[in-house]
Amino acid sequence: MAGKDDEHSSQANPDNRIELERQAADRKHMADIAQDPPTDPEGQPVTPAQPAPPRETRVVRNAKGRREVVEVPSTGHEWDGIKEYDNPLPRWWLWTFYATIVWSVFYVVAYPAVPLLTSATRGVLNYSVREEVASEIQRFDEANAPVRARLLETPLEEIATDPELANFSTHAGRAVFETWCAQCHGQGGGGAVGYANLLDNEWLWGGTIDDIYTTIRHGIRDPLDLDTRYSEMPRFGTDGMLDRTEIAQVTEYVLQISGQAHDTAMAGEGAVVYEDFCASCHMDDGTGDREQGAPDLTDAIWLYGGDRATINRMVTTGPFGVMPAWQERLSDADIRAVAAYVHSLGGGE
Ligand code: HEC
Ligand code: HEC
Repeated sequence: MAGKDDEHSSQANPDNRIELERQAADRKHMADIAQDPPTDPEGQPVTPAQPAPPRETRVVRNAKGRREVVEVPSTGHEWDGIKEYDNPLPRWWLWTFYATIVWSVFYVVAYPAVPLLTSATRGVLNYSVREEVASEIQRFDEANAPVRARLLETPLEEIATDPELANFSTHAGRAVFETWCAQCHGQGGGGAVGYANLLDNEWLWGGTIDDIYTTIRHGIRDPLDLDTRYSEMPRFGTDGMLDRTEIAQVTEYVLQISGQAHDTAMAGEGAVVYEDFCASCHMDDGTGDREQGAPDLTDAIWLYGGDRATINRMVTTGPFGVMPAWQERLSDADIRAVAAYVHSLGGGE
């Protein structure tokens, strides 16, 4: 309710004059009606006409083809004053609906549709997604057959210098890699703890394309492949070849040769342990031996980790990384392609 001092109803505000006068006129008019209610010519009081309830109508053509306005019946349903009328469906909608029914009948007859126990009805067009895929694959295989044949004949080192083969092995090799290798070596070949990084130029077993090809073909420590790459670092702690102190000492020595913070006195003792127990595989200078897949211990690249705890654990329990052989699972052309792909990733020698 507007107060006396409300700026919209205040007498003092000259801007309100018209509104205040209108309100006063309204009040007077209401009072006049109350005193002298309107009557019809017979003197009966007149009640103001109520607006007629809304009716729903539509235009139709009657039997003579004439346009005619008819009232639409109500279904009798009403919610909150909203009535439901019994209008017919729009014609375009109805015909679209009929068309989908006709189409579905055609589809069921023409295409595989009804599921059976192990397959589905064939349909009169005899269409099969499986066969379509198979024929697409065959089409690609046939298109690639000549280049695959050349890939098999070309010496591995020459693949990179042959533009067609290099291009093919990049694409086919990447596809093989992403399907079969990425789960261990990572999408781009970056590796993970225990899974060799294939991008850098440090190689456990060798980084020429021939080395890489052999590694992929026969795997590493794969018990099912007679020609697999094999070596075994002893479990110095578990098998009691070194005691805890000696392991701690040689760990400090490894930290020293890899240029990390270390205990100099212990590393000095560790050098002797290294000489006796480790140099045969990791070499006198610690740079490793590819014949045995023994990693370089002097650089910053680690397969399992270069911190004190990890080195200690490796010496105690002996790592034994396994990579499956692929010659039974992949065609020779695929192995060649993926070898060329890995070789091209950046670290190839
Ligand atoms: C089940 C996991 C696994 C899969 C799958 C796998 N690898 Fe490996 N791969 C390894 C492990 C583990 C090593 C390191 C082995 C070791 O410790 O010597 C390795 C090592 C390698 C090496 C040697 C690296 C070096 O430094 O000498 C190459 C090359 C390689 N993998 C390529 C591949 C390719 C190509 C594929 C796919 C066809 C593949 N790997 C699939 C686990 C796997
Ligand atoms: C018979 C050969 C052999 C001997 C002896 C040996 N190692 Fe190894 N060492 C390996 C091989 C092979 C690997 C890699 C194993 C793998 O890939 O799973 C390895 C891995 C390691 C690693 C892990 C490197 C990394 O990149 O994560 C460390 C650390 C290590 N050796 C230290 C030693 C020390 C210290 C000694 C001596 C007490 C020793 N090794 C003796 C063969 C040997």
